[in-house]
Amino acid sequence: MAAEVRRDNFKSFWDKYAGQPNTNSMMLNNNADELEELDRADILASLPILTNKEVVDIGAGIGRFTTVLAETAKWVMSTDFIESFVSRNRERNAHLGNINYQVGDAVNLKMNDTSVDLVFTNWLMMYLSDSETVEFIHNCMRWLRPYGYVHLRESCSEPSTGRTKKNTMHDDGSTNPTHYRFSSLYINLLRSIRYRDEDGKLWRFDLHWSCSVPTYIKRQNNWRQVHWLSQKVPADLGDKETSFNELLDLFSNVWKKYQLDWDAKLDNEESVWTDKIFSTILSPESVLKNSTVFVYTPRLVSPFVHVNSFLLADQFQANVWNVETVPEYYRTSLTKANTRKDQRVRFGWNENLQSSLNYWKQRDASFDLVVATELLRSTTSEELKELTTIMTPGSRILTLEPNETGDESQLRQLISDAELKITKWKDVTADAHEAQKVYFEHHKKDGKSDNLHWFLIEIRL
Ligand SMILES: C[S@@+](CC[C@H](N)C(=O)[O-])C[C@H]1O[C@@H](n2cnc3c(N)ncnc32)[C@H](O)[C@@H]1O
Repeated sequence: MAAEVRRDNFKSFWDKYAGQPNTNSMMLNNNADELEELDRADILASLPILTNKEVVDIGAGIGRFTTVLAETAKWVMSTDFIESFVSRNRERNAHLGNINYQVGDAVNLKMNDTSVDLVFTNWLMMYLSDSETVEFIHNCMRWLRPYGYVHLRESCSEPSTGRTKKNTMHDDGSTNPTHYRFSSLYINLLRSIRYRDEDGKLWRFDLHWSCSVPTYIKRQNNWRQVHWLSQKVPADLGDKETSFNELLDLFSNVWKKYQLDWDAKLDNEESVWTDKIFSTILSPESVLKNSTVFVYTPRLVSPFVHVNSFLLADQFQANVWNVETVPEYYRTSLTKANTRKDQRVRFGWNENLQSSLNYWKQRDASFDLVVATELLRSTTSEELKELTTIMTPGSRILTLEPNETGDESQLRQLISDAELKITKWKDVTADAHEAQKVYFEHHKKDGKSDNLHWFLIEIRL
């Protein structure tokens, strides 16, 4: 019964817009025309190639995306629960003969197992309850063919128009039932599900990346419009099937609490203890204005070991891409980005360095500088060598490396196996401990300096 009440809630929320089957209501923004084309291009550019593929566009509205999906895909099923939106979609796309339309609730959508190559959604989960979201992700697994993709895009933590009322189409008088969930919840859900098919084979999602939608950063100063691309792949050996109840409890309770704990520790971070250490090697003469910097911060030994990308952008007028690998720290970085509003700083989440390299290699990236913490600790020599393929010739990698024993030989070996040259090597252990002490005192956090050795290393291509 409770689920039915919620469903009505969302349906009546969207029924209010049924008389306006236009771009503004699709984006719930009175100024949508300014954003629509760019936003659409951002999303479409992130999708895999769809030639000969079968696609379902769920919560498609008036078909902003259906048109372009159908232009390349073999066949598209486009569905929404508001009849006038589907009618408008049908009118707009009458010239395309490869689209089926359906009026219906995403929650009750029936499709054959392994019948599509891409499940496309853009702003849908936020209109589903937690249990419906978990069920929907299960359904995506069922509907997708092996190696098929699911695309999700959601407003995380706040509406797409931000916290101000400017341009919003949510009226003040009624409650807004939308779920503006933490970005980390979607990452955790997509990564955790293990689904057993009818043949007894176990599947998981390989989450290729989590990124902010660039247009919303540029036009709205909002880093919390986030999208994700996952691929259905065989589960790993030893993986166990996840139950619906287990995932729902994690999604509704456990991960949320975990995120809030990390928010409390990291949200008000004013500086990072590594600032001082990196400042000894990064001078304005050594970093060209408008450089592109790749920052990699897996935060293995401590959540406080990372790089202050805002400072890099500020000091060197650099454009920074900061890869986070822990969903909770990624969300705190997006929060900081929304507060600082420095558009030169962008964050992406990837499972590991290799996944981020795949992302940037597909986009032919070329970074002028890499600044990292724990890079050598978390990588192989092959990966380190591959990192150079997304860097400009002659550029350098700076990494701050913790080490339990003070033995440098393994780290040096890794760099030489990657056929790279060490150009500076400094033991910064004493400075690191002092910087940590100052950091914890300043931020009034209960933490203390570690017992690790710290090396600051410069590697040149
Ligand atoms: C913000 S609009 C986005 C529309 C479209 N995906 C786009 O990006 O232009 C959300 C759409 O999801 C639809 N929707 C919300 N909940 C739904 C559900 N449970 N089943 C089907 N459609 C739903 C709404 O009617 C609306 O068209």
